[in-house]
Amino acid sequence: MSGAAPTLLLCSETDDLSGLCGEFERAAARACPGLRVRCWTPDTATTELQSVVAIAGWFVPLGLPARLPRLRLLASIGAGVEHLLRDPDLPPDVPVTRIVDPAQARGMAEYVLWAALHFHRDLDRVLAQQTRREWRMPAQRPASAYRVGIMGLGAMGAEVARTLAAHGFDVHGWARRPAALDCVTTWAGPEAMRPFLAGLDMVVSLLPLTPETRGLCNADWFAALKPGAVFVNCGRGEQLVVPALVDALRSGHLRAAVLDVFEHEPLPADDPLWTEPAVVITPHMASSASAEVIAGQIVENTARALARRALLHAVDRLRGY
Ligand code: OXD
Repeated sequence: MSGAAPTLLLCSETDDLSGLCGEFERAAARACPGLRVRCWTPDTATTELQSVVAIAGWFVPLGLPARLPRLRLLASIGAGVEHLLRDPDLPPDVPVTRIVDPAQARGMAEYVLWAALHFHRDLDRVLAQQTRREWRMPAQRPASAYRVGIMGLGAMGAEVARTLAAHGFDVHGWARRPAALDCVTTWAGPEAMRPFLAGLDMVVSLLPLTPETRGLCNADWFAALKPGAVFVNCGRGEQLVVPALVDALRSGHLRAAVLDVFEHEPLPADDPLWTEPAVVITPHMASSASAEVIAGQIVENTARALARRALLHAVDRLRGY
């Protein structure tokens, strides 16, 4: 069986990845001839699994990678990898990679720019006035008077910070480790979190989900924001303690929240967040990588893994991103 053609397995328990098959086949024909592409189902035969050299996955069934004797690559089909790293039985020698797509970063920058303009230009207040047929012009202030904080300064966060700075916002960035970005005031490490938060009009999470960021946005964290701040979550739903957010909104401490990610997606129709005043909910749409980029990067990495060459966008499993 080990002589069977090497196979790339598209695999998720929660999402139908069959729509990506054609794109992966085209990428394989270009960059890794001889690589077969298959879509996992719960009925995929054990014999079929023996030839799998790469998984392109999202929620991969726990324990599956450990059962694949020829596995050389575990690739996330997105920027995040926490759903792959949740498997306690991951073979230690199989590298994990993620997608880095400049167009995805630009999409994220558009989304955060929209949110920053919406609140900086008081659109939330003006839309509320409209429901009361009320004509009142808000004061116009320069973007430089609106301070936006970006948590997470990786490929995505850096693009968001640069875009906001180019539009004149007063941009601050926080990361675990020191980072330097033109026109952005940067802060590093856990001890810098509170001073970073204290002056912000809007704070945006673009952090990966790791043990350190799970539950980060709790009551103490919200209390460190200045009154009237806006919270935007484009990181992961598990970073937010929802009751703490709701308390901060209802007490008037927070002006609003824009939530694009949730612990359970799709957000259940009966979730009270849907009707919480001052919460804007979007369906994990802030940005995603294109099928072409996803297939191209993962097939390229499969060819590299088979040739034992350095991989693109390899993840540090201990750090979690
Ligand atoms: C990703 C995402 O990780 O869309 O790419 O959340």
